Amino acid sequence: MAYKTLIVETRGNVGLVTLNRPQALNALNSTVLKELKEAYAAFHADEAIGAIVLTGSERAFAAGADIKEMQSLQFADIYKSDFISGWDDVAKVRKPVIAAVSGFALGGGCELAMMCDFIIASETAKFGQPEITLGVIPGMGGSQRLTRAVGKAKAMDLILTGRMMDAAEAERSGLVSRVVPPERLIDEALAAAEKIASLSRPSVMMAKEAVNRAFETTLEEGLRFERRLFHSLFATDDQKEGMAAFVEKRKPAFTHR
Ligand code: HXC
Repeated sequence: MAYKTLIVETRGNVGLVTLNRPQALNALNSTVLKELKEAYAAFHADEAIGAIVLTGSERAFAAGADIKEMQSLQFADIYKSDFISGWDDVAKVRKPVIAAVSGFALGGGCELAMMCDFIIASETAKFGQPEITLGVIPGMGGSQRLTRAVGKAKAMDLILTGRMMDAAEAERSGLVSRVVPPERLIDEALAAAEKIASLSRPSVMMAKEAVNRAFETTLEEGLRFERRLFHSLFATDDQKEGMAAFVEKRKPAFTHR
């Protein structure tokens, strides 16, 4: 499969997707969306792949949705086509996705990073939702996911002023899980993804589902959901293998069944 806007590679049991529109700081257009969905679907179908890393360039993860593509759109057309809704599929990939963010992650770029399961940032990363400066508002989930990630005060501050926050502020406020020097970014993300890929796939996928459910439901329903998933993992070979390996003081050999 030849991609125009992405570089798609396999590193061990990890799928590595690099946004590659350097002339536009990786601005997200309809081709990026189409190709990202294809790349994720291929990695989802590949039994050998246990996790995905999504990254950009050193200068920009992605500087937002493509302003030049959006500039002349009309309300009736984008309403009828439900413009942007296709990105929901990107957020729904079931294998874990780590965003490795260096440089600008703005607007749709910040929103794309937040669609991933967690974000590892380079010290150079800059996050923001500058849509307000263009006369619009976030449209790929920024007002919802950023608010859940960092709380109302900081989300309002960023979304209403359009200012950027650096990696240290992003880590302090809970948007990113780790900050590393730029030259360590990809290795750190790949190592985390490889660790995840070495674990039992059903338990990894259920862990992801359970955490995501925390954003969708009440505590009581969430606890019930978690407990039922926990119970169901006792039907897997990997639970027997994982616990036997611990007791026998050896490494588990998961079969992902
Ligand atoms: C299209 C973009 C772009 C974008 C940068 N470029 N961001 N093209 N869409 N979002 C292009 C520039 O036009 C320029 O092309 C080239 O990339 C390099 O950018 P410069 O501005 O020259 O670089 P610099 O001066 O270093 O400034 C970097 C920047 C700035 C601060 C990131 O580019 C910027 O403010 N970009 C827009 C950020 C933004 O507003 N994002 C939100 C978009 S709306 P040329 O050809 O001129 O050299 C959005 C809504 C999402 O994301 C939800 C709905 C879909």
